[in-house]
Amino acid sequence: MPSGSLEISSGVFWVGVEDWDRRVFDAFIPLPYGTSYNSYLIVGSNKSALIDTVNPGFEGSLLREISQILAPEKLDYVIMNHAEPDHAGSIPAVLKIAKHAKLVASKLGVNMAEMYFKVPHERQIRVKENDVIELGGKTLRFIEAPWLHWPETMFTYDMAEKVLFSCDFFGSHMTSGKLYADEVGKLLQPEAKRYYAEIMMPFSASVQQALDKVKLLQPEKIAPSHGPVYRDPQAIIELYEKWARGPLEKKVVVIYVSMWGNTEALQRVITETISSKGIEVIPYNLTVSDVSHVLRDLVDASAVVIGSPTVLGGAHPLAMYATELVASFGVRGKIAAVFGSFGWGGGAVRRLTARLEKGGFEIVDALEVRGPPEEEHFRRAVTLSEAIADKVAGET
Ligand code: FEO
Repeated sequence: MPSGSLEISSGVFWVGVEDWDRRVFDAFIPLPYGTSYNSYLIVGSNKSALIDTVNPGFEGSLLREISQILAPEKLDYVIMNHAEPDHAGSIPAVLKIAKHAKLVASKLGVNMAEMYFKVPHERQIRVKENDVIELGGKTLRFIEAPWLHWPETMFTYDMAEKVLFSCDFFGSHMTSGKLYADEVGKLLQPEAKRYYAEIMMPFSASVQQALDKVKLLQPEKIAPSHGPVYRDPQAIIELYEKWARGPLEKKVVVIYVSMWGNTEALQRVITETISSKGIEVIPYNLTVSDVSHVLRDLVDASAVVIGSPTVLGGAHPLAMYATELVASFGVRGKIAAVFGSFGWGGGAVRRLTARLEKGGFEIVDALEVRGPPEEEHFRRAVTLSEAIADKVAGET
C-alpha cells in the first residue's frame, strides 16, 4: 500500500494488511499474487467503527494501522460482515483492547461470533436489514446479503459517503501495493473472475439478489475485504451481472488427463473439431493445469467436455477431482460430453457421466475407446465434437 493516510473517503480509512506470501486459500485455491485482508476504520464526530478485521497472525499490524488514526481502546463498534477467520479472526484481539466496543453482526453472525470467537452476549449487537448505527455525522446502514458465501454474510453502507463495504463480494485475491482497482492494471479482471468462480459461483441466486440491492444503492465506491477498492464501481457491477446471469459465451472447456497418450489423442481431435466449427475451445491438461483456471473459464462457458482413462475401474483421480468441482460449483453452462480410453475394462466414462448428470448436466455424447484410438474412434470423436458444437451454437 502507498505510504501516508489511506483515507478512501471522508472519515473512512483502510487499515488492512497485504499478505504477499500467502500461496493457498481454503486449502485448495492457489494465490499466485497473495491476498489482502481489508479492514476499514470509520470515524464519526462522536463514535467510531471498525469494519471487519484481518487474518489471525496479523493482529499487531491491524492495531498499529488503527493507532495511526485513533487509539484502538476508543473503538465503539466492531462490525463483522462475515465470520470467516480471514476477516473475523482478529476480533478477539481487537475486543480485548477496545474494552467498551460492541460487536455488530447479523442474526446468524452473532451466533457464529459466539461459537468461533467466544464473543459474549453482552458485547453483541444483532442487526437486520436497514438497521443503522449513528457515528455522528455518519450513518452506517446494514444490508442483509446472505450466502455470499456463508449464511451470515451482510453488507455495511456508509450513507453519507456512499461507500459499500461488501466483504468477499467483489473481492479478488491479490496484493499489488495499490489501493484502487484503476491503479492495478490488466491483472485485476482475470483475478476478480477467478475469485468469483471459486467463492461466488456456487451461490449465483444469492449473487443476483445482492446485485439487485447494490444497484438500488448506487454506491460511489465499493470497498471489499480482499483486493483493491473500486472508486468507479460500475465496471465490476456489470461484470458480476454478466457472470451471474448474462448470456453465456460460445465457448467450450475441454478438461482431460492422459497416462499413455490415448485419451489425449482423442482430445486433440475433439478440440480441433470444435474449434473448426467457430466455437472457442480451451483445453486443460489436468496434469499441469490449475483447476481454479478451469473454474474461471467455466463461469461463462456454454459446455464442458471431460476426458479420462480408466483407472481401477473408475476415472483417473485428477479427472474425478476436477469433475467433482465442475458438478458442484454452480457452473451455468450445463451441456457436457465425456470421453476416455481403457485397456481391459472401462468405467471412467460411466463414472464421470453419472457425477455430471447428478450435477444437472445434459450429456450430449459419450465415447469410451479400448486401446489406442483408431480411425473409427477418431470419427466418433468428430461426431461427439459436432454434437457439442451444434448444441452450443443453438443455445447461445
Ligand atoms: Fe474472505 Fe469468506 O472470507
